[in-house]
Amino acid sequence: MSGLPRITLELRDRSYDIEVGVESLGRIGECLAPILKGKKIALITDPVVEPLYGARVRESLTGAGFSVSQVIVPAGEKHKNLGELERVHEELASARIERSSTLIALGGGVIGDLTGFAAASFLRGIDVVQVPTTLLAQVDSSIGGKTGVNLRAGKNLVGAFHQPRFVLADVGTLASLPVRELRAGIAEVVKYGVILSPKLFELLENEAESILNLDRDILADVVHQCAAAKARVVMEDEREGGLRAILNFGHTLGHAVEAMTEYSRFLHGEAVAIGMVFAARLSAARHGFPAPDVARMAALLKRFGLPITIPEELDRADLARAVETDKKRQSDRVKFVCVEAIGRTRFELLSTNEIEDSLRAT
Ligand code: NAD
Ligand code: GLY
Repeated sequence: MSGLPRITLELRDRSYDIEVGVESLGRIGECLAPILKGKKIALITDPVVEPLYGARVRESLTGAGFSVSQVIVPAGEKHKNLGELERVHEELASARIERSSTLIALGGGVIGDLTGFAAASFLRGIDVVQVPTTLLAQVDSSIGGKTGVNLRAGKNLVGAFHQPRFVLADVGTLASLPVRELRAGIAEVVKYGVILSPKLFELLENEAESILNLDRDILADVVHQCAAAKARVVMEDEREGGLRAILNFGHTLGHAVEAMTEYSRFLHGEAVAIGMVFAARLSAARHGFPAPDVARMAALLKRFGLPITIPEELDRADLARAVETDKKRQSDRVKFVCVEAIGRTRFELLSTNEIEDSLRAT
């Protein structure tokens, strides 16, 4: 264990704990024994993660008296779909998963989102536990209860809010993560620093090399700070009626860049890095976000090997239109998250023409 205190995400009868640790996967059984209703668990994972961590998790669960069946979902975003969801449901039925049973999502955000939605919908809703193994999933997707799958028409269009019963993030699992995935996850970490925590931002500036070298104690501290920050936001605004939308900082343009490059050129976190620098420049132009802080942000993202500029070849008018199709649109304007200072955000509604002008100016 890293000795970090558990984070409690308080939502009345749906409250849960988040444990961030080092080499703590083997504790999952003892963590769950006191809190789960029944003894049957279905472990949902993918063919990359299963050989790395499946046995450790299964042994811990059986050691704590649980019976465990397993469902493997192919790795990758293209499998986060209704076809796979149906297959998971059928396998859960074959394994006689009951109302008192629990699903465990062991993997990245794809497994977490799909498993969370399978749990939200199977037998009208059963418990789910998140065991995230990517940095993005540890700091973001495993916390807060957004679950779902993609349609051909767009990402995450079918889903439900379904909070987990427990989250266990073992930063030891990040050692096997491809470095590009790690860096993409770091973009979301930088996001928390920029929107919520000057202290975290400074820690990232001071410890960038240690983070890239996977110093476990520093990673655990960073993941813990991000998880605590996300928990605070979700406690205040579970259903994204207001505050939670600040987590979309950098995402409005990021999604458009991902879509215009057909989801093949950039990982999500890389597109978010580009989006954050754009949002910071926009904030400098409109809300007095200090230019030196824009430079600090861009320099930090660059040190983490992340892209910071919009590809030249993306036509700015097309990009502005792609931003406009984002689901965070309000009437004919798009809601951007801006920053007034590191750690302080505000929302801004922009028309397509204003977005295009800003894209040309930055
Ligand atoms: P991912 O789940 O596709 O994982 C990336 C790759 O890493 C996969 O091939 C996976 O098999 C592999 N992998 C996972 N853990 C590993 C490990 N420890 N070692 C080696 N390989 C490992 O990608 P992701 O970035 O974790 O998640 C992206 C998904 O998360 C998207 O579908 C996105 O929509 C979703 N998301 C959801 C929320 C939310 O609030 N629910 C928030 C952000 C993102
Ligand atoms: N990833 C954004 C949210 O959970 O709201």
